[in-house]
Amino acid sequence: MRSRSHGLNAVTEQTGLLFGADYNPEQWPEETWPEDIRLMQQAGINLVTLGVFSWARLQPTEGTWNFGWLDRILALLEEGNIKVCLATPTASPPPWLGHRYPSTLPTDATGTTLWYGARNQFSPSSAVYRSAARQVTAALAERYGKHPAVVMWHVGNELGQISYDDEAAGAFRTWLLRRYGSLGNLNTAWGTTFWSQGYSTWEEILPPRTAPYLHNPTQVLDFKRFTSESLLKLFTEERDIIRQHSPDVPVTTNLMGFFRGADYFSFAGETDLIGNNWYTDPAQPQTWELGALTHDLCRGLAKGQPWLLMESAASAVNWRPHNSAKEPGALLVDSLSALARGSDGICFFQFRQSAFGAERFHSAVVPLAGEDTRVFREVAELGCRLQDLRLLAGAPAPSRIAVLFDWDSWWAAESPDCPTDRLGVLDQLQAYYRPLLRRGLYVEVVHPSAALDRFDLVLVPSLFLLKDEDAAALTSWVSQGGTAVVGPFSGLADSNGHLREGRFPSVLADLLGVSGEEWRPLADNVVLDFMELGPASRSVGTGQLPDALEASVWSEDLRLHGPGAAAVATFTSGPLARKPAVVRNVHGSGTAWYVGCDVPAAALGYIVGAALTEAGITSPVVGELPHDVELATRAGFYFLLNHSPEPRTVTLTEQSVDLLTGEAHGLHVSLDPYGALVLKHSFDHIENGN
Ligand code: GLA
Repeated sequence: MRSRSHGLNAVTEQTGLLFGADYNPEQWPEETWPEDIRLMQQAGINLVTLGVFSWARLQPTEGTWNFGWLDRILALLEEGNIKVCLATPTASPPPWLGHRYPSTLPTDATGTTLWYGARNQFSPSSAVYRSAARQVTAALAERYGKHPAVVMWHVGNELGQISYDDEAAGAFRTWLLRRYGSLGNLNTAWGTTFWSQGYSTWEEILPPRTAPYLHNPTQVLDFKRFTSESLLKLFTEERDIIRQHSPDVPVTTNLMGFFRGADYFSFAGETDLIGNNWYTDPAQPQTWELGALTHDLCRGLAKGQPWLLMESAASAVNWRPHNSAKEPGALLVDSLSALARGSDGICFFQFRQSAFGAERFHSAVVPLAGEDTRVFREVAELGCRLQDLRLLAGAPAPSRIAVLFDWDSWWAAESPDCPTDRLGVLDQLQAYYRPLLRRGLYVEVVHPSAALDRFDLVLVPSLFLLKDEDAAALTSWVSQGGTAVVGPFSGLADSNGHLREGRFPSVLADLLGVSGEEWRPLADNVVLDFMELGPASRSVGTGQLPDALEASVWSEDLRLHGPGAAAVATFTSGPLARKPAVVRNVHGSGTAWYVGCDVPAAALGYIVGAALTEAGITSPVVGELPHDVELATRAGFYFLLNHSPEPRTVTLTEQSVDLLTGEAHGLHVSLDPYGALVLKHSFDHIENGN
């Protein structure tokens, strides 16, 4: 069987770290192509993604093909020693397809058709679309499957289109029949005795189209699962065709990080390498934190092996309401963040800025103003830095810390019937991740069913939906010596999204030493004080919870459960006075923490810090990093990245030398505004990942 890491390693063994961009030569006269290649070489680019939106050029009408231009640009790229990630153009079908076969077009939940004139105008369930997509894929794979320049295949683009059309409804029914086997089972799973929703024939079942009031949450959950599987099927259909003609070239697609529309753990099982797109928002400097978490998701999807940043912006994007440019230096800092977190290269969208079309204002490696520009110079400078860092290619980037995350649970937790919309899953994830960022530690974001034996600490910021077997596996892992921290509103629902009976979180009660009877979201002007350290917190010996603690969004009416449990903090006033807010439970040879409310960042910092100590994980930083400084470790190197326009100083626990200059650093290291340093530990070090 193919292994994902093998897929990427097979490429980087030929090229070293990848440095690339989407290249759309069809937007330019052929006379500019040699100049493009000269500029690629000048910037150090060794990979371009070609043909992502070229279907109408390749197949101008249903029966005609036009490969000449692609033959010519591939030959030029090969001659220029630029490798190619060749895309199937199936994200944007040509107008003739939608015009001639309207059934290929998607509809939204109101039944409105989404027309051509933009992109993504396909229904994942359309048999005609899928047949046309297979045809163009086969034509490309047959012709270029063994082309020496082609080192990677790129299926579609950001697979994410949803459709509620009639063909999708039929496919949804087939999917449901396979899942449930009978209408009776479906009615039970969907809880259709509620609001008189019982189905008497399969034909009555629909996608969750616009309805007068709240949808059945299990119907919505199943439609999200179905849509995700349909998108994955588009990928695997094209991948299988490509593999017939191009068996030695890895096939992937560009993911979108924490994208709601598709379960990337299922994609990770099917792609030959993990490729992801990430666009920092220059107007929100703290988005680097979400970037870091997204890169750590890729690290988890790749099981600790390298992955690839397939798209990022050299400066501004065009799709936010107000698109700030990157500050000088930010391009390098943002790019090194991905590299330090396991990416085996940096790619941009796109090579040459478009002069027309909906992305005219999107930055590019080569702006319309040409090569004598700050952006082009910064890209070229990054190209040089990647040369210096070439020994990183292929270096694994595993972590000892896992964050459990599940698309199923994310979908279920966002149901509008849940008690609050203020306990966002991604917000929770970031809140629990931040204390690690401040300590220069990193994680692998993994599925709740992942084997946990290679981890020492597991964070579960938010798993509303948790299968019995996954709860049992986490419980058993802790009992054998693991440490876990579980956030509020977790472990409540089964895989149908039904709430479990009894005191919550029943499947985790033994693990967490706590059980509850009521969720109590807090009204706008209410805060609950909590403190009163119990003996448990002192016994951890890593300091104390901060003095004044308040929950302002969420609380739960809890009591201790079992002999190993102790309240670390209890509420001091209001209806929950003297009841536990944070609980620590000794379970077998391990420890589990339950945080039953939204705790302030300082308190979470303390809790995660105590859990790190229990798990025996130390930080390379003295105290905490400034909030705009990132430290990531890969293959024995510290990447110190200043995401701010101000100079910063950090204090490390050991001395280091600069990889580039050989300069020795003491424990205090200074960083310029948007400065980036790559330091080698001055002595052998057991890092977070080893
Ligand atoms: C995505 C797409 C690209 C382009 C960029 C713009 O990543 O894959 O085609 O639209 O966004 O930022």
